[in-house]
Amino acid sequence: MIVLGIESSCDETAAAIVEDGRHIRSNIISSQIDIHKKYGGVVPEVASRKHIEMISPVVEEALEVANIDISQVDLIAATRGPGLIGSLLVGLSYGKALAFANNIDFVGVNHMEGHISANYLDTDLKPPFLSLVVSGGHTYLVHVKDYLSFEVIGRTRDDAAGEAYDKIARTMGLGYPGGPKIDNLAKLGQPTIDLPRVMLKEDHYDFSFSGLKTAVLNYINSQEMKGNEIVKEDLARSFQDAVLDVLVGKTMRLAKELNVKTIAVSGGVSANDGLRKRFEVLEAEENIKAYFPSKILSTDNAAMIGAAGYYQYKRQGVSDFSIKAVANLGL
Ligand code: KG4
Ligand code: ZN
Repeated sequence: MIVLGIESSCDETAAAIVEDGRHIRSNIISSQIDIHKKYGGVVPEVASRKHIEMISPVVEEALEVANIDISQVDLIAATRGPGLIGSLLVGLSYGKALAFANNIDFVGVNHMEGHISANYLDTDLKPPFLSLVVSGGHTYLVHVKDYLSFEVIGRTRDDAAGEAYDKIARTMGLGYPGGPKIDNLAKLGQPTIDLPRVMLKEDHYDFSFSGLKTAVLNYINSQEMKGNEIVKEDLARSFQDAVLDVLVGKTMRLAKELNVKTIAVSGGVSANDGLRKRFEVLEAEENIKAYFPSKILSTDNAAMIGAAGYYQYKRQGVSDFSIKAVANLGL
């Protein structure tokens, strides 16, 4: 089955051809990072205008690279939320129109189910497993019992993990997006600064990253007031360790409680080398298997939407053309 995936929820316009929900035939991503970094973050109005410009060429390139004619596509799957409403509308409307005009089945896909499904691409991963989804907008610990059966056990109560990276990076003058910049600096530093592991020991699986952000801001202000120079590498490492201790600590605790041996990490923060290394060590030490998508499939892409759309279609059939984009769509 040939699926055309379309993704436009934030600042990437993306299209991909995925076969049987598992095999990538093409994966085209047009990133707007160079445009938004001038403003230090995504400007929604600018993002949707750029999506309108790019959607058609990106979809055409995905078909061309896969050597597929639109008449050979069995299903079109487009992201319907969560995300920026103006951005979502571009990909969703385009997908619906393309499906309608060519008499192709259509599904609207949840972006977070897409992130979870990124780990199905070109791997042997099958439910059940525990999924840690860490993106720019969301942090979820999800028990994936079957392809479409999710139990959300933990979520962030304020900032998402990626959002915390982006905000701290901005304060440190590192630019947007902050995740990769802090990750690279952290490799050169030592964890010399004492920062809180918020909610690590608490008796639930929710997260909170705003207290850590405040602690970093207080540290920066107090050092500046004392006239001390801030060692950016050490600050990046200390911040990253505080984030990873909580993410990894809570994930492992829940895996033990559920007696689940397979953990799948996804979302933009799963591109983090520090996080990948921690799970590599845990695989060797504990009896678990950890899946990470390739880096290009960690951040936003349309192949993951194609994979999620395939399993949704297999179990629930098509979506009605009347479905709407939902900015705050939950899992
Ligand atoms: O999943 P994603 O592409 O978009 C959303 O759905 O939000 O995630 C983007 C987030 C940004 O906050 C970015 O800073 C973060 O992922 N990110 C990283 C790394 N690469 C991207 N965070 C930490 N380390 C990285 N290497
Ligand atoms: Zn995302």
